[in-house]
Amino acid sequence: MADDIRFFELNTGAKIPSVGLGTYGAKQHGVIQNTVTTAIKVGYRHIDCASLYGNEKEIGSALKKLFNEGIVRREDLWITSKLWCSDHLPEDVPKALNKTLQDLQLDYVDLYLIHWPVSLKKGSIVVTPESFTQPDIPGTWRAMEALYDSGKARAIGVSNFSSKKLGDLLEVARITPAVNQVEIHPVWQQPKLHEYCQSKGVHLTGYSPLGSQAGENVRKKVLDNPVVKMVAEELGKSPAQVALRWGLQMGHSILPKSISEARLKENIDVFNWSIPEDMIAQLSQIQQERLGRAEHFVHDSYGVYRTVEELWDGEV
Ligand code: A2P
Repeated sequence: MADDIRFFELNTGAKIPSVGLGTYGAKQHGVIQNTVTTAIKVGYRHIDCASLYGNEKEIGSALKKLFNEGIVRREDLWITSKLWCSDHLPEDVPKALNKTLQDLQLDYVDLYLIHWPVSLKKGSIVVTPESFTQPDIPGTWRAMEALYDSGKARAIGVSNFSSKKLGDLLEVARITPAVNQVEIHPVWQQPKLHEYCQSKGVHLTGYSPLGSQAGENVRKKVLDNPVVKMVAEELGKSPAQVALRWGLQMGHSILPKSISEARLKENIDVFNWSIPEDMIAQLSQIQQERLGRAEHFVHDSYGVYRTVEELWDGEV
């Protein structure tokens, strides 16, 4: 295996940088601008955004400054954004992307994803039982395909889709999704989804590759996992680097997030070394647990998905 896994080629022919910066949660004033600026200065070329995160304007200001100062060029960056659940109606899809482009101060995104296979009433940000509506993924996808045709989204894909939901979409899609972005890390490896995506030419991107920012206790399940720690000690790397490098070697792009410069550097220092196959085999034996179950999208009387099993089609 080549040590240098800097890009993955998508089914569009485009090359997605293998390590991207996650931007969820960095909402405090000024924090995300600093984070994006530092990340790009230390070598990140892929920024993962979403309208839901409420910080695309700030990211847009940081990008504009970086372009103006000649620190990076637009064509050298990969910017992903995501369609929120309340914009699934076909007529709302182009408006949502236009708003994102306006906020990011860009003419196009490299990748635009349907954020969840869940639809909400227009204007809903917070999920309440009354806000659920019936998803029409084929209709939403046709509107996504039109964005791809327009050039405003140079690749389109989905996020949080199970193998079943992806399969249903593939049956009706004119354009195959380029990416499915889901939770993947050594404690939630998703081998079935991995195989399925590979067989269909859909690239997997892993969010929460360190086990999520849902709190240190959740993150510890990955970073304090005894096998991850053992591999880290053997290789002289940190547990975070092992979790991230594992993702790259599985063929996934990864989206670690950090607001600390030292950790931003640590998290991108995952090239020119590799985890030997016998240790990958040991990592594959880790007991599995989905850490982000998204129970807020499930409701026993209002929701389209009445159980977590239905939301993930049994992949829990
Ligand atoms: P911080 O921003 O203070 O560095 P994930 O990407 O899985 O969602 O995890 C993000 C969380 O992990 C953030 O809270 C971040 O905290 C923390 N984090 C990021 N990089 C590392 C690292 N190398 N080691 C330990 N924790 C990290």
